Amino acid sequence: MITAVPSSRDNQLENFWHQQANSLPWFKKWQRVLDWQVPFAHWFVGGQLNASYACVDVHAQSARRDKIALHWEDEQGNSTSWTYQRLYQEVNQFAAILAQHGVSKGDIVIVYLPMIPESVALLQAIVRLGATHSVVFSGFSSQALQDRILDTKARFVVTADYGTRRGKQLGLKEIVDKAVHGVSCVESVFVYRRNRDFSISTTALDVILNDYKTDRVCYVEPVAVESNHPLFILYTSGTTGKPKGIVHSTGGYLTYAHSTIQWAFDLNEQSVYWCTADIGWITGHSYVLYGPLLHGATVMLYEGAPDFPNPGKWWELIERYGISILYTSPTALRMFMRYGDQWPAHYNLNSLKILGSVGEVINPEVWEWYHRVIGYKKCTVVDTWWQTETGGFMIAPTPALGHRPLKAGSATLPLPGIEAEVVDAAGVTVPRETKGYLVIKKPWPGMSLGIHGDAERFQEVYWSKFPGMYYSGDYAMRDADGYFWLLGRADEVLNIAGHRIGTTEIESAAVSLEAIAEAAAIGVYDEVKGESVVVFAIPKNGFAPTPALKEQVIATVRASIGSFVTPRAVYFVASLPKTRSGKIMRRLLKAVLEGKTAGDVSTLEDEASLDEVKKCYQVIKAALETSAL
Ligand code: WT7
Repeated sequence: MITAVPSSRDNQLENFWHQQANSLPWFKKWQRVLDWQVPFAHWFVGGQLNASYACVDVHAQSARRDKIALHWEDEQGNSTSWTYQRLYQEVNQFAAILAQHGVSKGDIVIVYLPMIPESVALLQAIVRLGATHSVVFSGFSSQALQDRILDTKARFVVTADYGTRRGKQLGLKEIVDKAVHGVSCVESVFVYRRNRDFSISTTALDVILNDYKTDRVCYVEPVAVESNHPLFILYTSGTTGKPKGIVHSTGGYLTYAHSTIQWAFDLNEQSVYWCTADIGWITGHSYVLYGPLLHGATVMLYEGAPDFPNPGKWWELIERYGISILYTSPTALRMFMRYGDQWPAHYNLNSLKILGSVGEVINPEVWEWYHRVIGYKKCTVVDTWWQTETGGFMIAPTPALGHRPLKAGSATLPLPGIEAEVVDAAGVTVPRETKGYLVIKKPWPGMSLGIHGDAERFQEVYWSKFPGMYYSGDYAMRDADGYFWLLGRADEVLNIAGHRIGTTEIESAAVSLEAIAEAAAIGVYDEVKGESVVVFAIPKNGFAPTPALKEQVIATVRASIGSFVTPRAVYFVASLPKTRSGKIMRRLLKAVLEGKTAGDVSTLEDEASLDEVKKCYQVIKAALETSAL
């Protein structure tokens, strides 16, 4: 392992982050700003703090106590608003109940919850006790949930009776029951009952949180943890079938969330902030649960589908609550663009000041539409490039730090303290206007602590392609002004509606079917979602390539991952194009489906010869034409 000797520039970098970290309410100051042993960075070593104290107590004990912390509304228009004082009480109540049932510092708690204020309180309660949460997006299937429970060996799971979407109630407890069935590590399943009339089945593991709630004021001492104590684990897809449990620290991560949200979104005391991401994704962690609460901002939570009961719902919420910062995904924006301008035009969106975007490349037309139709040409569009692993924004405009011209479709420039570059396969910086790999050359406080239980994989996936540099897995290009333009994933990872999903995960699900010998998943262009999944599959001998089998493949992918990755089509083929080293040529499959010619595809695959690619192209094209698709 190489230990980098800090240069004078690194000292500057450390001083800079030292200043930033000073904004948080630490119980004890750190001894060292950074301990950097590639690939592991420990920030603010020896410092002690508590995330829930920093997000809740400091405001509940200040003039902000009666300020609204959370507004919540659902599709039907049911709503509630919690002040910081109320949030503080709820967090303490939940913390007391969890502690009473054995949750303590060092535990990992799996969370499977809908978008309700109680979920925010429960997550804050978990970290108040010094425990680590691992949120599983409530759109994941029971099998995906079980995989994550097993990987963390969690003793505790927290859920609610149901979540709602498109006017339907989805039983979450039921999915948890299936996931914990036969799993020996789980000792308790905490259930928050939203409505006692909603029927749930009971098991011996259940602890109904509501049964222990009291009207009495209660206080649970926030547990001081060292800066590098894991605040949370969040699973994300990679290029193997097994999702990676990305671990984030407490002090470094919170410092980073705190600074970045301020720089990019120009948060102030009056901000009414709405990030539409679910708490099950990193965006919902850094920029719903932690960043805005650290600043004592007012946060909007919406439970439901964006276009339900009609495509005016979001714009109605913006008008009703006076939202000043909206942070969402290009997928949502593309959907609203298709519904037409009459929906937003019906509401007054004058309160908006900043419009954020994340998850995928925002194409210039969408950027322009967002700027003109939603932002009345007076808002700053902030396209934020970052990842689950980076903890917070890495490349984004920073309106709070002064004006820098925007360019529609570019995330602009790296944030202060971030050294991003575009390099070639040898790790050498490429000239301007040239496509290459996006890397980060210095550690930053939001950087992941590693992969849960797999230090080697962390080194291998992110730090081995270009020694000493963080490899993002994305292609990018810098223009003549040095601006960064993101150009999609460079690895076998799909981006479906801003959600990352590994092709191998989909393929493993498909081949788990008895009838399927081999499968290849690819992402094809989708006007709304950016990409959608298509599966090529080889049936085993003796199994007919029937429409029923296609349905089975689709159903199996949904059951093992979740409905958000439902394949759009399944094609049966007799063989899959592969390089000599046995790698499936997914880019070729994609090119054929997208109607490209053999000439277009000849240079697509790095590791295959031109002849190979051309031959495979013919085979696949013929298979697509002849099989009854
Ligand atoms: C991948 C990370 C970070 C929160 C949401 C997704 C893509 C993310 C942008 C952007 C172009 C983007 C990248 C990245 N991505 N933001 N502004 N422009 N692409 O988090 O699931 O960890 O996925 O999303 O490909 O690597 P994630």
